[in-house]
Formats: sequence, C-alpha cells, structure tokens
Amino acid sequence: MDYLRIQGPTKLSGTVTISGAKNAALPLITLTLLAHNKVTLTNTPEVADIKTLLKLLENLGATSTLKNHVLELDTSTVNHTMANYDIVKTMRASILVLGPLLARFGHCEVSLPGGCAIGQRPIDLHLKALEQMGAEITIHAGYVNAVAPKGLQGAHIIFDKITVTGTANIVMAAALAHGKTILVNCAKEPEVVQLCEILRDSGIDITGIGTSELTIIGTGGKTIDMVDFEIIPDRIEAGTYLCAGAITNSTITLAKVRPDHLDAVTAKLEQMGCTIEIDGSNMTIHPAAELKHVELITQEYPAFPTDMQAQFLALATLAKGTSIIEERLFENRFMHVSELQRLGADIRLNGHTATVIGESPLFGADVMATDLRASSALVLAAMAAEGTTNVHRIYHLDRGYENLEQKLLALGAKIERLKE
Ligand code: UD1
Repeated sequence: MDYLRIQGPTKLSGTVTISGAKNAALPLITLTLLAHNKVTLTNTPEVADIKTLLKLLENLGATSTLKNHVLELDTSTVNHTMANYDIVKTMRASILVLGPLLARFGHCEVSLPGGCAIGQRPIDLHLKALEQMGAEITIHAGYVNAVAPKGLQGAHIIFDKITVTGTANIVMAAALAHGKTILVNCAKEPEVVQLCEILRDSGIDITGIGTSELTIIGTGGKTIDMVDFEIIPDRIEAGTYLCAGAITNSTITLAKVRPDHLDAVTAKLEQMGCTIEIDGSNMTIHPAAELKHVELITQEYPAFPTDMQAQFLALATLAKGTSIIEERLFENRFMHVSELQRLGADIRLNGHTATVIGESPLFGADVMATDLRASSALVLAAMAAEGTTNVHRIYHLDRGYENLEQKLLALGAKIERLKE
C-alpha cells in the first residue's frame, strides 16, 4: 500500500492545472448508456474512480479507451444488465448505472452500495422516483432488481431531499421514458447542470436546467444520438489547491478553472483574509496577512460544499480566533478530526459542529486517510506542520485527485510516494 511522506512547513509557488471534474465525469460516463453512437469525452480525469466505472461498463459489454484525458466510449455493444457487488462496493457512484440501464433495457440488477465512511448514504430516493415512473423494484440478496416491462413512464416527482446522484439518475431515466417527467427539488450542482446540457445538446427536450425544477420529455425508449463534449473543471480539486495556497502562506495560480463554480469557496477564503484574483479561467490566491477565523455551514450548491469541509477545517487550525464549522449533509463526516488532532490541532466536536481553536502549532506525525476529501485535508495540514508527516491509506486520495503529489511537487512541496 502506498503512503505519502510530506516535509513541512513548505512554501509553494507557480501554476497548477486543474483536471476535469470526477463528479461530472461519473454520471456523464453512465449517460453514454443511453446513446447508440460512440462518444468522445475530453478532459476526463484519470483517477481510480473513473477507471473503476469504466471497468463496470466493460463488464456490461461496453468498450472504452482512455488516453491523454480523451475517453472514447461505445456502449452500443452492452448486453449485460447486472452491476456486481465487487465493483459497486468500491464506489458508491456505480449506482448511476441504475437509471440508464433500466430506461434502456427495461430491467437491471444493481448491487446495493452498502455503508460508507462518511455516513449511511441510502439510495431510497433513487428507488422511490423510479417506482413513481412505473418500475417494480425488489431487493434480493443485496441487489436492487428493477423491471419496467412497459418501459418507464413520465411522472411528477418531488425529491424529499436534494440528492446529486439521485437527480442525475432520474434525469437519465426520464430522458428515455414515455412522456413528460417533472422533477422538483433537484440538485443544482454544476455537474448536474452539465449532464442536463449534454442531454439537451443531444436532442432531448429538457427545460429548467440550473434550477431546482426540471421538465424532461422522454424519447419513449429510443436511444439517443449523443454529442461529444469536454468535462467541466473539478471545482473541488480547484478549491483544495486554493486551500493549499492559503495554508502554506503562498501565492499560487490555478489554470483551467471555472471561477463561477467556486463562489462559495472563494467567499470564505476572502473572509479569512486571502485575496483571489480572477483572469478568465485562471485564478490566483494571495495568502492572508493574518488568517482570520471562519464560520461555515455545508449545504447544497450554490452554498458551501461538503466536499470542501475537511480542507477548511485544516485551514482553520492556523487561523486567529475560533472557527465554527457545521456539517449539514452527512452524519459522519468528521473522521479527519482525530487525525488532525494527531498533528496538534485543537478541535472540539459536538454532533455536527466542529469548533476549531486556531493558531495551533502543527507538528508532523503518522496519520491515516479516512475518505477522499479527508485525505486531502491531511496533506494540506502536513504541508503546514513542522517536520515529517506520513499520510497512510492514500488509495482514498487516488480515487479522486489526479497526480496530486506530482502537482504539489511542481509547486515546490516536499512530498514523496512510498510503499508501506
Ligand atoms: C454527491 C457527490 C459527493 C458529495 C455529495 C454532496 C458524486 C459522485 N458524489 O454524492 O462528492 O459529497 O454529492 O454534495 O457526485 N440521501 C438520502 N437518500 C437518497 C440519496 C441521498 O437520504 O436516496 C441523503 C444522503 O444520505 C445525504 C444527502 O441526501 O445526506 C445528500 O446526498 P447526495 O446528494 O445523494 O450525495 P451523493 O450524490 O451520493
């Protein structure tokens, strides 16, 4: 197993190019299941989660090649409809095949994803919506068995909670359903917006894109002629590098970003005293003269993202004053707190709220990555800590950050990948 050894404190400088968004690429890859043509996706991030999903699609009968961030995908040969536990257990987003497979084939069997480090993460809202569209769903031996013998039917669906992959799954199902589907209380994340835009550009009648209410007229079971497209930049990777600048007291530039997708993140960095300069798709962070404490609550887009909570928690350990960070989306997303404490952070947890007493001197230690974003928080803290930090279990990082250590090395970090 690999681990990262980081020497701190470190100063960074230069430019880092941001990769395509993992969380956009995942639903977009499953979207190709609705197409009858070969599709080319550019700016595809070459991270473990994408490779896992491509393996799942290959098991279903698709063919794909991924080289230099160009993904060519042909799902016209798909002839299986079963997503096995072996793959689904390693990546919850595999559930994104459920809507497209059911819409295209009228039946599918997808393993239940099971538990996860950051909380329960049920899929009840996905299943309820598909049932409203006429699917008959049974759970047997750990699998969701879904059938829609007469095809999925358009329906009026109100999501009880805003769900990102739930919205994506049902939008994809609705695109091939019979008649009109109205979805209320949808996720408005940029990744969902891009999915809807590509469906629209591929000829699907879809309105309300970027709002919480989407109306989709389905093709009645006919597969679509899908356009080629470029995946949007990863706003969470970008946010993580902005935090890298802030935590190491360094000026760095990010290239190939969508600054408008980062408004909630940059607003908080500015409240903490950092300066952000935007020049087209480049963003430069200048560190704060004195880092100030912050109060933030994680919520659905366009509010502050839960996927940036851990990184800001790391940053808050160095700020002047006491920061309050409240996690509203997941019940168990503070696993990184005890690891940050090993580095010397003074953090008190009370339910869903972390109180961070700032200006803690951080010292290198052995720490363990617990989930994807928690891992990046540990790397950030390690770059600010005095001495050597070993971050173990970095397979979590490899799931979603492309070439993290090469990108940080190029910025001047002292970081190396070693084997346990
Ligand atoms: C997606 C992102 C993840 C991010 C999260 C929240 C992908 C691949 N992953 O995850 O990085 O942290 O959005 O922005 O895009 N819920 C239910 N029932 C359901 C579905 C969700 O109760 O059927 C709950 C969840 O437990 C959670 C909340 O709704 O508390 C939001 O979850 P959701 O938006 O679905 O997260 P994901 O799509 O899994």
